[in-house]
Amino acid sequence: MNILSIDTSCDETSVAVTSERRVLSNVIYSQVLVHKQWGGVVPSLAKRAHEERIDFVINEALKKCRMTMKDVDYIAVTYGPGLAIALEVGIKTAKELATVFNKKIIPVNHMEGHIYSCFVQNSQGKPKGDFNFPYIALLISGGHTELVLFRNHCEYEIIGATVDDAAGEALDKAAKVLGLGYPGGAVVERLASRAGNKDYYNFPRPMLKDNTLNFSFSGLKTAFYYFTEKMGEEEKTTHLEQLSSSFQEAVFDCLLKRTEKAMQKHEVNRLIVGGGVVANMYLRKLLRNLTKKSNGTILFPTLKYLTGDNAAMIGVAAHYIVEKRGNIVPEDTLDRVPRLSLNDRF
Ligand code: KG4
Ligand code: ZN
Repeated sequence: MNILSIDTSCDETSVAVTSERRVLSNVIYSQVLVHKQWGGVVPSLAKRAHEERIDFVINEALKKCRMTMKDVDYIAVTYGPGLAIALEVGIKTAKELATVFNKKIIPVNHMEGHIYSCFVQNSQGKPKGDFNFPYIALLISGGHTELVLFRNHCEYEIIGATVDDAAGEALDKAAKVLGLGYPGGAVVERLASRAGNKDYYNFPRPMLKDNTLNFSFSGLKTAFYYFTEKMGEEEKTTHLEQLSSSFQEAVFDCLLKRTEKAMQKHEVNRLIVGGGVVANMYLRKLLRNLTKKSNGTILFPTLKYLTGDNAAMIGVAAHYIVEKRGNIVPEDTLDRVPRLSLNDRF
């Protein structure tokens, strides 16, 4: 069963062709240069860039695996969460293709894609590892920070989430305060590593004392802002590495403590981690150590491009949706749901 999948939820235009868990082709057109100068994603610019590129990206994805629309069985598309006017571009395109080529559409939750990114195989079917439910999934991106109990294919329960900023968003905001540009996660990682990944300033870890599995990063962000303001420009510039490292420590400490608590509370020692922030190698090391402590296992996105946004993970999730729920919708009822949650059902 070949699936052509489309993701236009944020600032990457991506199309893939997948067969079960195997990626036959995946094309990503990143808009990072479009948004960089504005210090964040501008929805109207994202929409225009998706519209300009989507047909080209579809053709490239088909060309790369030497297929035409005749070889495609289903069309999968992300219908949320994400930017409304960006999601609309992918959905409109999916509907047009479905009408012209007489295909059915599988709507996919973008976060479901980030979960399945840990199970994606290359075109040769590697890595082979099978599913071993249940898992705790830690999803960390620029827009989301969630802990999910992944009970079985397409069965999710959000057991913890951020009450304000996402982890990636917090790193991006700290980078902005330090004048490091956008997006900031990777730059903060580099500077922190030069400072030995140590905690110099002990910034606050909000909400760690409460009894939930939720996260909060806005108090940390504010504390960081006032601390650097007090320091003054010159001292700030000479302490970029220590400031980055201490901020990153505070964010990762929250992620680790909450994940550990979730694993204990639900008695699950198999962890999967998805989303852009898991590109951070130091965080991977910390999470690996955490699972070792409980004799558990950990899975990361299987290939580098699967950490950020991509359509391959959407196609793989779509395969299990069809297999398990047969969830194929009549075209006219499909609409974008910008605040779609993993607790919702189509
Ligand atoms: O999943 P993603 O590509 O897009 C969203 O759906 O949001 O995540 C983007 C986020 C940004 O906040 C970016 O700063 C962060 O992932 N990120 C990183 C690293 N690379 C990207 N955070 C920490 N360390 C990195 N190396
Ligand atoms: Zn994402």
